Amino acid sequence: MLAVSGASAQPLAQRALQLLLQAGERVELVVSRGAIGVWQAELGVRVPSEPDAQERFWRERTGCESGSLRCHRWNDQATGIASGSYRTRGMVILPCSMGAVGRIASGVATDLLERCADVHLKEGRPLVICPRETPWNLVHLRNLTALAEAGARIAPPVPAWYHQPTSIEEMVDFLVIRVFDCLGYDLGNLQRWSGPIQP
Ligand SMILES: Cc1cc2nc3c(=O)[nH]c(=O)nc-3n(C[C@H](O)[C@H](O)[C@H](O)COP(=O)(O)O)c2cc1C
Repeated sequence: MLAVSGASAQPLAQRALQLLLQAGERVELVVSRGAIGVWQAELGVRVPSEPDAQERFWRERTGCESGSLRCHRWNDQATGIASGSYRTRGMVILPCSMGAVGRIASGVATDLLERCADVHLKEGRPLVICPRETPWNLVHLRNLTALAEAGARIAPPVPAWYHQPTSIEEMVDFLVIRVFDCLGYDLGNLQRWSGPIQP
């Protein structure tokens, strides 16, 4: 399951979705109301909230017809994925706002994304949280610690230079592929570390 909350770095979410669909994966997608606001504010793009319209939107944006995609309305807590009886391989929240971090850490599910995160924790299924904020205050750090203690993996989208990126696209791919490494997905070829460069 891919969930997108209202932090900056929305292009990471779009690339993650594209790579998952290109790999033929089945994707349950939840985009929070905050994320829809960030798309509008940062990119001037209106992401539809209704599932059918949103699916068409993502298919067009990713240019990808493969894989299976099911979009869910941000506040629909009656949909299948809101229940622990719905089986998933895990959940990634990319990017994750500090508001969502705080609400998930305190067990408060005000929308579908938070409910699904709560379900993954209670079912003991993989939950990967990619917080995007800087700097982190003590409240952020405590909430992230609580989530790590509850079993979540905390994977902030922090770039690396050891793969020698020459474009933003390479950096984005590195960040996204490393996040999905946490769930055992193989979403692409990475220049992985294989020792220091020989002079
Ligand atoms: C353009 C824009 C960028 C934002 N970037 C961040 C961010 O990087 N991290 C964060 O925690 N909140 C960020 N916010 C604030 C969240 O969007 C806001 O707290 C929102 O209520 C989060 O909603 P959600 O957690 O339901 O997705 C941003 C807001 C806007 C409008």
